[in-house]
Amino acid sequence: MGMEDLSGKVAFITGGASGIGLAMARSFAAEGAKVVLADIEVGALEKAEEELRAAGAEVSGVKCDVSDPASMAAAAEAAIEAFGKVHVLCNNAGVAPSGAIDETTPEDWQWCLGVNLMGVVHGIQALVPRIKAQGEGGHVVNTASVAGLLALPTLGIYTATKYAVVGISETLRAELEPVGIGVSVLCPAFVKTRLADSHRNRPAALGPGPDEPDAFMTTSLATATEPEVIGECVVRGVKRGDLYIFPHPDFKIAFQGRADSILEAFDNQ
Ligand SMILES: NC(=O)c1ccc[n+]([C@@H]2O[C@H](COP(=O)([O-])OP(=O)(O)OC[C@H]3O[C@@H](n4cnc5c(N)ncnc54)[C@H](O)[C@@H]3O)[C@@H](O)[C@H]2O)c1
Repeated sequence: MGMEDLSGKVAFITGGASGIGLAMARSFAAEGAKVVLADIEVGALEKAEEELRAAGAEVSGVKCDVSDPASMAAAAEAAIEAFGKVHVLCNNAGVAPSGAIDETTPEDWQWCLGVNLMGVVHGIQALVPRIKAQGEGGHVVNTASVAGLLALPTLGIYTATKYAVVGISETLRAELEPVGIGVSVLCPAFVKTRLADSHRNRPAALGPGPDEPDAFMTTSLATATEPEVIGECVVRGVKRGDLYIFPHPDFKIAFQGRADSILEAFDNQ
């Protein structure tokens, strides 16, 4: 179930001030959609809003902590106040603490589960009932990762949240199909964003993160796919109503390996 015409529609994008979220905003705006950017980082949010407005987009920025249901509900309210409706919900904000699982702290888990997993749940709870009530169809895009399909050592917390986002998206797809609302899950590999430096937004109350951004992630992301490519993939996926959006088809072989071992194990019981 796709949304072929995005012109005049309203897209609400969490983590919209940077990287993949900002690229989605640019791509939706290029289709004539109005965009709401919901983000915790105020400076980046203002800059993104200015950039999009200067390019002719109708845009509204709202400070929001997706891990806090009250903050998400207030951001949803602000979006309705700005544009009257929301048609496309992109639950995209994410953070990526790294470290072997036995070396991670409960605070690392609280932070990453709060943003990457509960952020998606809060987004759905704040906006899907409104999208349903509007009765004009709609679409939800949840940003997972290839780490939602493949386990990545030293990214155990992140991997746990992204597997969950894939599961939530598949469930939501079945739940919303009867009411004409589509659901996609975006699973990119490496993209050139500020994700390796996500500790910049770690709440002080959860104690300090590492002094330096993760070196492996920094190097991998520096030369990775430009976010604009991902924004275009998302628009295409929403228009076609695709459940899975995989911007990096070269990871198919790795997933095939995992799928084969699971199928083999079923046969060997
Ligand atoms: N960059 C990659 O290689 C890659 C690959 C796969 C998936 N992803 C996913 O893409 C999504 C976007 O990340 P990105 O790579 O663009 O990184 P990014 O750091 O450039 O952007 C993430 C945005 O989320 C915002 N954010 C962080 N915590 C928040 C909170 N509590 N509430 C609201 N906003 C918050 C940040 O301020 C930032 O603007 C994430 O879900 C990430 O896991 C990224």
